[in-house]
Amino acid sequence: PRKIIIDTDPGQDDAVAILLALASPEDVTVLGITAVAGNVPLPLTQKNARIICELAGRPDMPVYAGCDAPLKRTLVTAEHVHGKTGLDGPVMPDPVMPLAQGHAVDFIIDTLRREPAGSVTLCPLGPLTNIAVALQRAPDIAGRVQEIVLMGGAYFEVGNITPAAEFNIYVDPEAADIVFKSGIPIVVMPLDVTHKVLTNKARVAAFRALGTQAGTMVAEWTDFFERFDMAKYGSEGAPLHDPCVIAWLIRPDLFKGRHINVEVETGSELTLGMTVADWWGVTKRPKNALFMGDVDADGFFALLTERIARI
Ligand code: BDR
Ligand code: CA
Repeated sequence: PRKIIIDTDPGQDDAVAILLALASPEDVTVLGITAVAGNVPLPLTQKNARIICELAGRPDMPVYAGCDAPLKRTLVTAEHVHGKTGLDGPVMPDPVMPLAQGHAVDFIIDTLRREPAGSVTLCPLGPLTNIAVALQRAPDIAGRVQEIVLMGGAYFEVGNITPAAEFNIYVDPEAADIVFKSGIPIVVMPLDVTHKVLTNKARVAAFRALGTQAGTMVAEWTDFFERFDMAKYGSEGAPLHDPCVIAWLIRPDLFKGRHINVEVETGSELTLGMTVADWWGVTKRPKNALFMGDVDADGFFALLTERIARI
């Protein structure tokens, strides 16, 4: 199994991604979970991460709190998508498991220095602040990361928080710029892919039919989250953005993409946080990311349902 650190701002779709990872020990070993401010402020994202670990029967999982604000900007949150708690939908008890001692950035740095070089994959599911701060503070870790597999950005689908930008990149574009320029191999799950893994009545019914607490939670979370997306995009259901990152680690054959150059806009007010993806190879800029464009949605939901059934 690949050793991973999940960096996250839960978020219902982050929650499903974490459950998928914790339910897949033959594919991924989760070394720890680091929380960042994003969908909601940090006190809620770190708490939500612990709620999810407890739901997965993993109160032993170290959950660290990280950065509470982007590098240079005021935090933008997404309660309009995820609700006041970030994990609205079913009522969940407060977590009993404690937060791990220490800062998420130190955990990321220490883990990468301790584990053999090239053996740890970072899985960012929110704004890239924690990862960028780790790279700024400890440039030596860049050469030790196996890969960064992240949810963020868009090409044909352009934006979901502004007309030009996807939320995770928009919230901390300077952090994203540092990550995309780091030289670390990057796999990107943009909106182009995540807007294809939509829930629908049958898919949500399959989660509920598992008859487990986790199955019911996933059904209720995606139902909540669905209301917003259906109204806004007129889509059939909710996009399961963040689980695409974990699904790729388990079944890369479900996805198709291109190895291209991706740069992040940090200057223009109009297009701030846009991922300028050279999909057609019109520049000679270095290829720095495997940018996904397509996914087998039925295969994705079959995998997700099979794995959630284990919890
Ligand atoms: C991303 O933004 C968040 O709202 C989701 O959790 C996902 O990571 C989608 O743009
Ligand atoms: Ca997220």
